[in-house]
Amino acid sequence: MDSPVHLRPLELADIATYADWGSDSRLCLHAGWTVDRPRPAREAHWRRVIEEGSVLRLAAVGGDEVIGYVDLSGSDLDHRELGYVVGPSARWGSGLGTTIAQLGLAHGFTELNLEWIDAEAAELNHASIRILQRLGMTETGESGTDTYLGVPTPTRCFRITRESYLRENPVPEGK
Ligand SMILES: CC(C)(COP(=O)(O)OP(=O)(O)OC[C@H]1O[C@@H](n2cnc3c(N)ncnc32)[C@H](O)[C@@H]1OP(=O)(O)O)[C@@H](O)C(=O)NCCC(=O)NCCS
Repeated sequence: MDSPVHLRPLELADIATYADWGSDSRLCLHAGWTVDRPRPAREAHWRRVIEEGSVLRLAAVGGDEVIGYVDLSGSDLDHRELGYVVGPSARWGSGLGTTIAQLGLAHGFTELNLEWIDAEAAELNHASIRILQRLGMTETGESGTDTYLGVPTPTRCFRITRESYLRENPVPEGK
């Protein structure tokens, strides 16, 4: 995949890709998805997600392949919560998670004009914690207990403000 990754709205044609990921048990276990869910149920789930659009979820596309997605959840005008998945798990470990999370922040601050973006990660989800730290997000505390790969672990909370984001990522003049 040589071309840069970009975000775009989900399309019904993406259902097959996301439903495929549901047979990747490593991805399901790490993402907290049901393992071994029958394919028709996975397809129906993704069709609902796309048609209802109740969460702002954007497909991450590299070349002509869907390689992940980013969520900016919530309905407030000034802030959202960032989430991200890279799939299938064979793609993990080559920087894509960091790239798509960074694109999620860029979308939130430059397209949605948010004032701040929050994110949470299970303490044992080392890759996700590392991503949030690399994005320049500030740790704000803990919010209870999560379960990651079947093990209880604290949920760590992070935030980045618009001001802090734009200081590190200035928008080019004329945009
Ligand atoms: C979390 C996830 C997005 C990471 O994707 P990825 O493409 O592997 O991410 P990257 O390659 O950008 O790696 C991010 C960082 O984590 C580190 N990392 C990756 N796997 C790791 C592991 N198992 N243990 C420790 N660190 C790890 C990488 O070295 C990198 O840090 P670095 O930049 O300092 O080297 C992916 O594993 C995923 O989709 N998991 C399931 C869903 C999920 O947990 N989403 C996050 C919760 S919102």
